Amino acid sequence: MAVIIAVANQKGGVGKTTTACNLGAGLARRGERVLLVDMDPQSNLTAGFGLEKNLDDTITHALLDRNASLPILQVEDKSGVAINVCPADLSLSGVETASVEKLGREMRLRDQLSKVDTDYDFILIDTPPSLGVLTINALVAANWVVIPTEARFFSMQGLDMLSESLEEVQYLNPNLRIMGVVLSKFDRRLREEQKVTEYLRESWGDRVFSTVVPTNSKILEASSAGVSLYAYKGANAARGIYDKLVEEVIARV
Ligand SMILES: Nc1ncnc2c1ncn2[C@@H]1O[C@H](COP(=O)(O)OP(=O)(O)OP(=O)(O)O)[C@@H](O)[C@H]1O
Ligand SMILES: [Mg+2]
Repeated sequence: MAVIIAVANQKGGVGKTTTACNLGAGLARRGERVLLVDMDPQSNLTAGFGLEKNLDDTITHALLDRNASLPILQVEDKSGVAINVCPADLSLSGVETASVEKLGREMRLRDQLSKVDTDYDFILIDTPPSLGVLTINALVAANWVVIPTEARFFSMQGLDMLSESLEEVQYLNPNLRIMGVVLSKFDRRLREEQKVTEYLRESWGDRVFSTVVPTNSKILEASSAGVSLYAYKGANAARGIYDKLVEEVIARV
């Protein structure tokens, strides 16, 4: 059975998609069988693998119809490492209202993943910047949550809010555990960020990953170019950082 990790934070632009994409690619390069699931109507993860054009089917259908199966596409990077992606598009934003009257609306993704989870070692779920039904579905389906955050004061308030929501979700999914918080866009030049990091390590202890991802132009460029860092030229330093994060993830499961 796969280890299922939701990458979540209701705050926008903190590095959820970048973390999901590069953790997934890093795990795949180590020979793990990886499925990445896009649960965000913005579908940045889908676009991050260049899959946004001519999609026949997306995750929306499988969330609304129990009998439909998850569309899964295989992508190979330049060095031939394969990764599987379940794509999304904007139609996913309709699931919230379309599922209001559906029974077990929070369990839809869990039920779909239970049909395929023996095919993978790791399933990573990217979530939107909200705590709506899509994020709840991801948290109900997962065994672990990885929380990317910026080292800013308001981000810390957001983390407290997220912890409360996680406790609520544990009512539906008692197996859900926090794997860790990752500083995903750290700017060491800013005093504010150093102070907030100290505070975070004090209050969250070893639930904060030792690996810190600094702001790095190659990370930004690779995501705009629609590839993971592992397929982007000149991104060795950034890759090395995600390799360390991958090692920490493997050590924690
Ligand atoms: N370490 C980094 N250095 C520089 N840019 C980064 C870094 N991590 C992420 N980014 C950039 O920051 C932006 C936001 O990152 P990302 O899309 O991963 O966040 P997100 O939490 O998924 O956003 P959303 O909430 O909208 O889904 C992107 O343009 C991404 O390329
Ligand atoms: Mg995102």
